[in-house]
Amino acid sequence: APCRPAAAPGHPALPSSAPHPRPPRLSASSASAPRPLGPPRSVSIRFGWPRKAKSVGRGRSVRCMAAASDAAQLKAAREDIRELLNTTHCHPILVRLGWHDSGTYDKNINDWPERGGANGSLRFDVELKHGANAGLVNALKLMQPIKDKYPSITYADLFQLASATAIEEAGGPKIPMKYGRVDVTGPEQCPPEGKLPDAGPSAPADHLRLVFYRMGLDDKEIVALSGAHTLGRSRPERSGWGKPETKYTKNGPGAPGGQSWTAEWLKFDNSYFKI
Ligand code: HEM
Repeated sequence: APCRPAAAPGHPALPSSAPHPRPPRLSASSASAPRPLGPPRSVSIRFGWPRKAKSVGRGRSVRCMAAASDAAQLKAAREDIRELLNTTHCHPILVRLGWHDSGTYDKNINDWPERGGANGSLRFDVELKHGANAGLVNALKLMQPIKDKYPSITYADLFQLASATAIEEAGGPKIPMKYGRVDVTGPEQCPPEGKLPDAGPSAPADHLRLVFYRMGLDDKEIVALSGAHTLGRSRPERSGWGKPETKYTKNGPGAPGGQSWTAEWLKFDNSYFKI
């Protein structure tokens, strides 16, 4: 098995020589149905649905005509993303991009964009430079040509489209998506640093609960979402975690190096939960 784990507080799967982050196990006490990350519920539109002004919160409304992504462009962009995935094998980093744009969400804040979530704020340098986002500039570089080709798609929608397509192309389920996320307009609308989970906190379960409960997610959902690490690797030169390379990563596919959590780290399956 890859990444032979040595138990350590908060990182039950750490190898002894190089730290490798692994969110701790939580008891799945609550059993509510999974919900999508972030706030798009309020202004989302299904692929191809007619766009209407929708009510957002108390009496405010957003005219989706102006904000929503163009359905034909979304469909064309999905094909370009498939092509990108096939040629560069960038599935993991696109999933991480979608997660880090959405994972700033705070269900207790009513105002947008202060409430964070999938709003395209991760395209700005100030947020890309947050410690938790190390390396994600590479994902933005992959996305920017597609964004330039399809200007009627918001960054927020593009990041989630890329993430869902990557999961699908890696063998995961087809995710029923809705589109219509609105982009923040400038770096001053980016969330403050520290909204995403830390990989090495002193009390990992408490920390994860604090962060994910803030997004409205429960223990079962934390565990399920952590299974996304069935894809990808950690890299010492990015997050500071993991080995420079292993036998599973030294030849790629895609850019070589890093330490994966699973042997087949481009395949979306349940192996993260079995190592
Ligand atoms: C539970 C708390 C979490 C922590 C502490 C955490 C931490 C990390 C760290 C440190 C890395 C390595 C990054 C690098 O060195 O490039 C990573 C990678 C990754 N994370 Fe997480 N993560 C968490 C949750 C999630 C969630 C919820 C998702 C998606 C739903 C996710 C998806 C990924 C993916 C796909 C990668 C691989 C990226 C790549 O190979 O480029 N993570 N995570």
